[in-house]
Amino acid sequence: MHLGIDIGTSAVKLAVMRDGRVIEQSSAELSVASPRPGWSEQDPEAWWTAIGAAARNLSTDLGGVTGVGLSGQMHGAVVLDAEHRPLRPAILWNDSRAVAECKTLSERVPAIGQIAGVPPLPGFTAPKLLWLAAEEPGLYARIAHLLLPKDYVALRLTGECATDMSDAAGALLLDEAARDWSGDIVAAAGIDPGWLPRLLEGTEIAGSVTPEAAAHTGLPAGCPVVIGGGDTAVGAVAVGAVEPGRAVLSLGTSGQIFLAGDRYAPNPGATLHAFAHAVPGRWYQMAAMLNGGRPLAWIAGQLNLGVPDTLALAATADPGRVPLFLPYLTGERSPHADPHIRAAFYGLEDSTDRAAIARAVIEAIAFSFADGAASFAGALDDVPQLLTLGGGARGDLVVQTICDATGLTLARAEGAAAGPALGAAKLAAVGTGAMTFADLSRSPGAGDIFTPQDSPDLAARLARYRALYRALRPLAAAGD
Ligand code: XUL
Repeated sequence: MHLGIDIGTSAVKLAVMRDGRVIEQSSAELSVASPRPGWSEQDPEAWWTAIGAAARNLSTDLGGVTGVGLSGQMHGAVVLDAEHRPLRPAILWNDSRAVAECKTLSERVPAIGQIAGVPPLPGFTAPKLLWLAAEEPGLYARIAHLLLPKDYVALRLTGECATDMSDAAGALLLDEAARDWSGDIVAAAGIDPGWLPRLLEGTEIAGSVTPEAAAHTGLPAGCPVVIGGGDTAVGAVAVGAVEPGRAVLSLGTSGQIFLAGDRYAPNPGATLHAFAHAVPGRWYQMAAMLNGGRPLAWIAGQLNLGVPDTLALAATADPGRVPLFLPYLTGERSPHADPHIRAAFYGLEDSTDRAAIARAVIEAIAFSFADGAASFAGALDDVPQLLTLGGGARGDLVVQTICDATGLTLARAEGAAAGPALGAAKLAAVGTGAMTFADLSRSPGAGDIFTPQDSPDLAARLARYRALYRALRPLAAAGD
C-alpha cells in the first residue's frame, strides 16, 4: 500500500493506493494570504498541520503503508534557517512581486531561457531570492536552506533536504538538458550553492519517516519517502503521461496544457515552459495559465453560491448576451508573461444577469486555454486526445467550453479525480520497487470524451477577448 501526498494551493490531498488503484482519499483545506496586492503566501507549518488532519480523516490504517510519495505546488520559495525553521511564509507560484528581479536575471544570464526552459517570470523561485536579498536583507542573511513546498514536507517527514528535477526546473535553477543545478543561474540569483537541496529523480528515495513524523501522520517510522515532483508533472504521471506525445489538460487553481517528450525542447521565445519531468529521461512542454479554474471559485464566492450551483446557473445563460471577462486575477504567465494585467468584465448591460456573468467567467477560462493551446504552434496537432485532470474539470460545461474554444479533443481519465496525489503514490510504488516504469506509462482508461463543436459565436467572442486583452495591456502596465 502506498500513500501519495499532494500539497496543493487550496488543499492538501492524500490518496491511498493499493495495486495501482486509489482505495481512499482525504483532504484538508489551506488558505492563501495576500498581505499586499500581487503577493501570495502560505505558512509552511500549515501544510504540515493539514497533512496531519487529512491523515486523521482516513479510515485506512496508514501503519500498513510501504512507501510515501510527494507532489506539490511548484515555484514556491521556502527559506529556512540553519535549524530548518521557516524564516517567513513561503512565497507562492502565483505571487507577482519579483518583476524587476526577472529583468536582472535575464541581464545577468542572457541565455537563461535556453538553459532553464523558459525566460524568468515573477512566480518562479529564482527571482524571489533576489527580491528577498533586496527587500528583507536581515532575514536573507539568515537563510541556510532553500526548498520547494513539497520538499519542506519531505524534510518534516524525513529530516532530509532533497528535491527532484521537476521542482528544481520550476525554481528556474536547473540546467534542463544536464538535469543538474545551473551554476550560472544559481550565482546570478545570489544563491549560495550550499542552500540547495540534494537533487534526485522523482522516483528516488529522499529518506525515511522519522518517529516524530510517524506520530504526526500515523505512517510507520522508517517507511521510505520518495521525493516525487511538481504537481503538473506528477499529475501527468497519474494518468500515464510519461511517454512522448501524451498530453494532459489540467484545471485546478491554475491551468496547464502539458505535452510529454523524451528530449529537452526549449522554445524560450515563447512562454511555453520546457521542464524536466518527474521521471528519468523525460521532459515536457507546458503552457501554464496562472488563473486556471480559480475564477470559477472566485465568481461562485461573489455570487454566494457553490461551484455546482454556479455551473447550473451559467448553463441557463442566453449565449447571445454573455459579456466578456478577462480571467487574470493574478496576472498571467502563458502566453502573455504579464504580471501587471488584472481581471476585467466588459460589455455589461442593464440586462446582464448573474447567469450571464457566471457564463462569461467559464468562457474566459476556456479562452485562456485557447491562448495556451495556440502557443504550442501545432505541436498538439498529432495528439489524438488530451486527458483532463483537476477539480475544475469535473463540470461538463467547463470541459465542453474548453474543448470548443481550443478545438482539442478531451477525455476524462480514470484516476483523474485523485490527480497528483495518485501520481505521487505511483512514484512511491516505483521508487520502492512495487511498480515499474512500464506500469507508469500504461494508458489509463478514458471515461467521457468531449469532441469540439464548431461554434462561430464562441470563436467571435474569443477574437474579441484577445482584442480586449490587447486594449487593456497598456493600461495595466501604466498602472504599475
Ligand atoms: C505550474 C504552476 C502550478 C503550480 C500550482 O507551472 O504554476 O501548477 O504548481 O499548482
